[in-house]
Amino acid sequence: MEERIREIKARIEEELGKANTSRELFELKAKYVLGKAGIIPGLMKELGKAAKEDRPKLGQIINTLKEWAIEYFARKEKEIGEIEKKIRYKKETVDITMPSKKRERGSLHPVTLVKAELAEVFAGMGFKILETREIEDDFHNFTALNTPLEHPARDKQDTFYINDDFMLRTHTSPGQIHSLTTIEPPFKVLIPGRVYRSDDDATHSPMFHQMEGLVIDKDITMCDLQGMLDEVVKKMFSKEAKTRFRPSFFPFTEPSVEVDVSCFECGGKGCRLCKGTGWIEILGGGIVNRRVLENCKVDPDKYTGFAFGLGLDRIAMLKYGVNNIKVFYENDLRALRQFR
Ligand code: DAH
Repeated sequence: MEERIREIKARIEEELGKANTSRELFELKAKYVLGKAGIIPGLMKELGKAAKEDRPKLGQIINTLKEWAIEYFARKEKEIGEIEKKIRYKKETVDITMPSKKRERGSLHPVTLVKAELAEVFAGMGFKILETREIEDDFHNFTALNTPLEHPARDKQDTFYINDDFMLRTHTSPGQIHSLTTIEPPFKVLIPGRVYRSDDDATHSPMFHQMEGLVIDKDITMCDLQGMLDEVVKKMFSKEAKTRFRPSFFPFTEPSVEVDVSCFECGGKGCRLCKGTGWIEILGGGIVNRRVLENCKVDPDKYTGFAFGLGLDRIAMLKYGVNNIKVFYENDLRALRQFR
């Protein structure tokens, strides 16, 4: 027996000496130490066949072998573990001094930037943002807005018709009709979106963007519009920005105004941007015409409101000093990237 034990020890040493991975180690451990099928547990079983007086001594020898084997395997496990860890670390090493791959970053479109900035200012005043349809019928785009068939204002808005009944909306004002016919007053809505007109030069594109605002409540007056716009231009342009109201005409508001902001380039002294006047026109607005409320079955003796509409492209052009609207739609990344 002692002879065999020496042999087993030698074999373990030899085979373990060749093992390089924890997997090989595990297999050897199964072969020698683990479970009933292992060689060392097998020796224990043989003990029963030995002479009775030899058993305690043999048992002790086998136990010593077992303890030695367990310790030997543990040592080897640690060694191999260290080696494997080093190999893994080496494989996973990242060279942080290597130049990184260049990743292209997109940028927001200047019109999107202006829209987001305005939306934030208005949202802070309690406006809900609403997006209504781009294909409209005559009722929403014109008639309900107090622009009946023969109305001269229709000529100002060269319209793209889809068929006899439908057209691409020429302004975001039909959003007022959608709001008035679906939302219970009082409410404040902001309606940004694309609009279309057959118009094409340095400052006009057949597709452009507007933002409509509509506030309906009891006892709304022009002062409410003025007070609100004063706040808006201060947040949007500068703390010193002022507004100026000029009388105007729109069929859906009565009275109607055009609103100027003090020039944000020269502060009002007069420069090229404001053409020496100190003022820049930014929007049209007014008190909602009672005919519009009637057309939407809202009682004009109970509710009043103000509306306004502004051109987002126009504001983006002024703000970023772009003198041709085509810059926004030619998709030349060299131009668009500058607005990041
Ligand atoms: N819809 C007008 C346009 O496209 C802009 C406008 C003017 C909207 C006055 C309004 C308003 O809501 O009250 O020229």
